[in-house]
Order: sequence, then structure tokens, then C-alpha cells
Amino acid sequence: MKRPLVRDDLRSMDGYHSPQVEVKVRLNTNEAPLAPPEEFQAAFLAEATKVDWHRYPDRVAQSLREELADLHEVEAGQIFVANGSNEVLQTLCLTFGGHGRTAVTFEPTYAMYGQIARTTQCRVVEAGRDKDFRISESELEAIIDSERPDLLFLCSPNNPTGTPESLEIVELAVSKSPGVVVVDEAYGQFADFTAIETLKQTEAPESLVVTRTFSKTWSMAGVRLGYCVAPPWMLPEFEKVILPYHLDSLKQIAGRIALRFRDEMEQRVAQISAERQRIAEALSALGLEVFPSQANFLMFRTTECGVDGNELWHRLLAQSILVRNCSNWPGLADCLRVTVGTANENDSFIEALEGAIK
Ligand SMILES: Cc1ncc(COP(=O)(O)O)c(C=O)c1O
Repeated sequence: MKRPLVRDDLRSMDGYHSPQVEVKVRLNTNEAPLAPPEEFQAAFLAEATKVDWHRYPDRVAQSLREELADLHEVEAGQIFVANGSNEVLQTLCLTFGGHGRTAVTFEPTYAMYGQIARTTQCRVVEAGRDKDFRISESELEAIIDSERPDLLFLCSPNNPTGTPESLEIVELAVSKSPGVVVVDEAYGQFADFTAIETLKQTEAPESLVVTRTFSKTWSMAGVRLGYCVAPPWMLPEFEKVILPYHLDSLKQIAGRIALRFRDEMEQRVAQISAERQRIAEALSALGLEVFPSQANFLMFRTTECGVDGNELWHRLLAQSILVRNCSNWPGLADCLRVTVGTANENDSFIEALEGAIK
């Protein structure tokens, strides 16, 4: 039977690949190791009984936006909520990308910037980072001058390297770039820098957008909820590209209730950061090169231990430990990324690693 042809540009593209394998210890997708508190679940279930199932949800998610605005001390008109920060990124690409437009990424970074931009037929230009995976001012200026990007993606802390961005780089990008500057802060609560502060200034830039997610620190990857803080003029533009009623009623409730448990979230962040430090020390003691991270994951290189990164990934998998294999990404030969898990999961990972590199 004849199959209809998909778009020419899609035929050469790959989808997003992160294996979902059944293993004992899953440390490959930077999820939170613990669920939200039981009180969260009880409060959510109680609220869920009040949902008007036969009615569409609040189209602009007003209550959730107001509560997020309080959290960040901005206006509700600056908050846009969506199905995970990936949908926020897609909304940005639909609004500012598209045919004849250019997006810039700094590789290695989160693969979805390029992937989503391309699905809107946007041209993607990949700039580089220095040996410490930082963006240099000279590289940033040069790429802005040569490409005049409509979209420029910064990731702070950067996935998969864990490197945070600096105020200087964000300000330089905003001042030089003709287009929108996106700072993806999916792991923002783990870092000592946030670009949201820049959006709170009296003369806040009209081109800066900071994205956040409930998937990581809020322990809610299963819910698919994310948002951005943006200049107010952008919100009506986003409304033109999103589907009506895209954010369902239950998700809006889940987000509002999660925000009541901020102290618990911050405790989890502190615990994860302490565990990250413990893992980093154990890995260094094993002779692995560990890159400094301000996120809930660590990237490390196996070269100095004399074990190939792909081989080590398979050896860990054979022991039912799944981490992210970045070895085949440009610039990341022999690199693996491990998400910080529970103390027990981290012990299993370290133990398996000890056996695997001997
Ligand atoms: C840097 C970065 N941005 C965005 C996302 C997507 O998050 P969400 O689950 O909110 O779509 C991820 C997920 O791993 C990420 O690492």
C-alpha cells in the first residue's frame, strides 16, 4: 500500500531518543529521586473531586499564573504555563522561529532546542563552548554578529554538562542579539544564578525569556508542567500559536498545590546537592574526570581510566544501572551523565562503577 509522504525536512530528522529500559536503578533522565510529599497527594485528590469534568479548563490558567508570579515576585501577565517546559520551548519556536529564521544553540546542550526549532522549519546554527563547557564572550559576540539569530538558547545549568551561565553572558546576549534570548532554567533551583532577577529590573529587557519546569525540583515529571517568565508583550503572541485549552484542569490544580510545599522542595534540593557532592568525590577517587555541576546530575569522562565510554555504559547496564551515554555526542567522547538518585541508588551506582572500571 502506498504511504503518503511526510514533509521533506522531517524525513532526514531523528526523533528524541532516551531509552526507557526496565532496570533496577534508573539514573538517565534527571528526574527527582523522590515523589512529592504525601500531603501533596492528599490535597491534590481532595481538589480533584471538585473539578467540573464537563467544562473546559481555565484557558489562561489564571490562578496558577498568579501563584507562580507570587513565587518569583513578578506580574501574572509575565507568566506563561504549558505542558512541560518542552511545550514552552515549542511555543517560543512557533512564535519566533519558523521558515527563513535562525536559532543559535551552544553545543553540547539540551538536544530539544535544535530538534524543536527544526520542526518549525527554522534554521539551526550550532556554536561551541570552551574546554570547560562555558560560552566565551568572543564566541557569543561572533555568532550573534554573523547569524543575527531570531532565537538564542542558553541553558543554565547546562544539560548535559551541569555548567551554570553567568549574568555577564546573559546580559551580553540580550544587548547584542536582535532576537529573543531564552535562558532555560530547568535545573535553576540547584544553581547560584538565575536570569529571572534580570526580568525584575525596572528597565527589564523586552527580549529575555526564562523557562522553568515542575519536572525536576518539584518532583513532578509525570505531570508535564512547565512555564516561563517573559516580558508581558509576548503573552498575547504565545496565545496565537498554542492550542485552546492546552493545559488541563488537573494539571493546573497539581501545579497550584505543589507550590504550597516549597519548603519540602527546597529540602529535597539540599539533599540532592549533598548527594551530588558525595558522588563527585567517589568518582574522582576512582580516577574519573568529573565536571563541576550545579544541577541534579553529573557528567564524567572515562578516558583517563582507560575504559571506553560506550563500553562502560554497557557494563553498568549489565548490572541494571541506567545512566545517559553522551559518548557519541560531538565534543563528549567517553562522557556519561548520571542523575543524582536516592542514597541507596547512588550507592548501587558507585558500587557498580567500581566493578566496571577495574
Ligand atoms: C535543559 C532542559 N530543559 C527542558 C527539559 C524538559 O523539561 P520538561 O519535562 O519540563 O518538558 C529538560 C528535561 O530533561 C532539560 O534537561
